[in-house]
Amino acid sequence: MLIIYPILFLLLSTHYSGAELCHPKDKSALLAFKHSFSYPVNPFPSWDPVFDCCTWYGVQCDETTNYVTGLDIAPYQDLNGTIPPSLGNLPHLTVLRLHKIPNLVGEIPPQLGNLPNLRSLTISWTNISGTIPPFLANLKSLVFLDLSFNRLSGSIPPVLAKLPYLRGFDFSRNQLTGPIPESFGHIPATAEFPVLALSHNKLSGELPASLANVNFSAVDISRNNLSGDASVFFGEGKATSSIDISRNNFEFDFSKVRFTVSLDILDVSHNKIYGTIPEQITDAVYLQFLNVSYNRLCGKIPTGWKLRYRSESWDNTSFFHNRCLCGTPLDPCK
Ligand SMILES: *[C@@H]1O[C@H](CO)[C@@H](O)[C@H](O)[C@H]1NC(C)=O
Ligand SMILES: *[C@@H]1O[C@H](CO)[C@@H](O)[C@H](O)[C@H]1NC(C)=O
Ligand SMILES: *[C@@H]1O[C@H](CO)[C@@H](O)[C@H](O)[C@H]1NC(C)=O
Ligand SMILES: *[C@@H]1O[C@H](CO)[C@@H](O)[C@H](O)[C@H]1NC(C)=O
Ligand SMILES: *[C@@H]1O[C@H](CO)[C@@H](O)[C@H](O)[C@H]1NC(C)=O
Ligand SMILES: *[C@@H]1O[C@H](CO)[C@@H](O)[C@H](O)[C@H]1NC(C)=O
Repeated sequence: MLIIYPILFLLLSTHYSGAELCHPKDKSALLAFKHSFSYPVNPFPSWDPVFDCCTWYGVQCDETTNYVTGLDIAPYQDLNGTIPPSLGNLPHLTVLRLHKIPNLVGEIPPQLGNLPNLRSLTISWTNISGTIPPFLANLKSLVFLDLSFNRLSGSIPPVLAKLPYLRGFDFSRNQLTGPIPESFGHIPATAEFPVLALSHNKLSGELPASLANVNFSAVDISRNNLSGDASVFFGEGKATSSIDISRNNFEFDFSKVRFTVSLDILDVSHNKIYGTIPEQITDAVYLQFLNVSYNRLCGKIPTGWKLRYRSESWDNTSFFHNRCLCGTPLDPCK
């Protein structure tokens, strides 16, 4: 026994050092990340320096280079503290997700702007605060940016519209103020069919007319205090299948709006939209959800819907509280 133990130890330690794929710089950056959280005493028990960091919880390494390319921490109830600057020392990161960490606080550190390969950044369902930093525009590879369900305030940096590959950003459920930047109507052609998700904030001001240039795949700007003409999101040639502009202050003539055949979800409720509901809406054969209630619409509700799927999600409440809409499913027109 006395002899076997040291040999066993020797074998094990040889094995571990031989199998260590993780690059030392990545490992020390991850250990700095771990140690920056003071409580609980030992977060990430699997992050033991004895083991290859590519095997640690939430860590992903590239199969050929062995650089750390992914860090996915979610959910983590007991992680108290701020986002550590040491994350900026993982230059090969392509995916970073910090999700459902209720005691993560403080601001987004500037070092996150030093990750040139980052394609997906998610910091959601946390208690981080401060503003959305303009240095995120340095993340030139970014395709997906999700900062939803936090306590971010201030305005949306116009410079984010310059990100060449951004296909979707989600800033919903924060406390953002100010307008949707005019620059968001001039996003690069390389960023195809982006998603605009800004619901449940305190955004205000007129919607920029430039937004008509963009072929969004989905728009949700509900529950803000935006005003102006939201018809910029509509059009027969658009790829926009989901439009939720409900609970704002939009004021435009609905009679002039044209609907794409692929429209699936339409919620314009609680605005000041006037005019009639155009007959052409019946071309939207995939429409599953419709709500135009609480506006200033008038006239006969179109008939002759050509819906591919029978929708259970509309009833008279989809149309009620307007100035003088009439016909099925409301009262007959006089
Ligand atoms: C962690 O943060 C929460 C919320 O701020 C706090 O209630 C709790 O006491 C903190 N725990 C420790 C050990 O600091
Ligand atoms: C933010 O902190 C509060 C108070 O500790 C907590 O109730 C809330 O759930 C946290 N928010 C998120 C998104 O985790
Ligand atoms: C919303 O914006 C309008 C101007 O469009 C302003 O009069 C009103 O006070 C704002 N409401 C809130 C709750 O901020
Ligand atoms: C939007 O995208 C659709 C689907 O690719 C395309 O058919 C349409 O021409 C585009 N419309 C505009 C206004 O760019
Ligand atoms: C339409 O929106 C109104 C106002 O928010 C709501 O009361 C109603 O239930 C909604 N109807 C449907 C079918 O979604
Ligand atoms: C909506 O329909 C229900 C039953 O189908 C009816 O009880 C209700 O009075 C109607 N409301 C309006 C505003 O037409």
